[in-house]
Amino acid sequence: MRNKIVAGNWKMNLNYEEAIQLGTNLNAWIADNQPTAEVIIAPSFIYLQTLLEAVDEQYLKIASQDISAHAKGAYTGDVSAEQLDSIGLDFAIVGHSERRDYQGESDTIIAEKLKQAFKHQINPIFCVGEKLEEREAGDHFSVVKTQVLNALTYQDKEDLSRLIIAYEPVWAIGTGKTATPEQAQEIHAFIRKVLNDEFGVEVANNTSILYGGSVNAANADEIFSQPDIDGGLVGGASLKYDDFVQIIAACK
Ligand code: 13P
Repeated sequence: MRNKIVAGNWKMNLNYEEAIQLGTNLNAWIADNQPTAEVIIAPSFIYLQTLLEAVDEQYLKIASQDISAHAKGAYTGDVSAEQLDSIGLDFAIVGHSERRDYQGESDTIIAEKLKQAFKHQINPIFCVGEKLEEREAGDHFSVVKTQVLNALTYQDKEDLSRLIIAYEPVWAIGTGKTATPEQAQEIHAFIRKVLNDEFGVEVANNTSILYGGSVNAANADEIFSQPDIDGGLVGGASLKYDDFVQIIAACK
């Protein structure tokens, strides 16, 4: 059965000392409180190795925010799945909407990134989600279905046991505007149906589908109470210790 997961995407925030302090404080809170949810944080690449050494992975897991689409070679600035695997990293965010928008990542590139992750036993947190104009036009189901299928039909089916999906409507990211729990549940159930239809009941039932987009300490409880929402991918609120631990505790 699928896990409950709360992941913090730190994006391009926190300096070295802040990152280590927040990571070690979260590790201690999780050790003391034993929450139901598995907790993952995604700091910038430069802190990954130090954080992997500073925390106990039985309590707190570490993810990269991206992964290269290429195996190795002349790709200045990229970090490969093999390199990440070699420092003991087990999770990576792939296809975040900020990378789709600012780095021009297409579904094809994202499919290659997922392929690299799977090849090196890294569990991808694969992000999908529609833009405001797509939701207003009523196209959100077809947009999300296309993103899911373009990336996943290209993978080996047995690798999908490692898959985590994050539904993040672009209009809700960093805006303070969340999807209502009903809107989020509706599309999470839809994604699970797409998984069921295309890849079978086992993949559908075992894939954790996280909601992302302005999750905070006040709204987490209601969002996480929906049957097809298995946790959250949290941006801004994951940078604040008090808020993030409340969000973790709300994911039961
Ligand atoms: P916010 O929680 O800041 O809206 O960010 C969500 C997100 O993009 C997580 O990946």
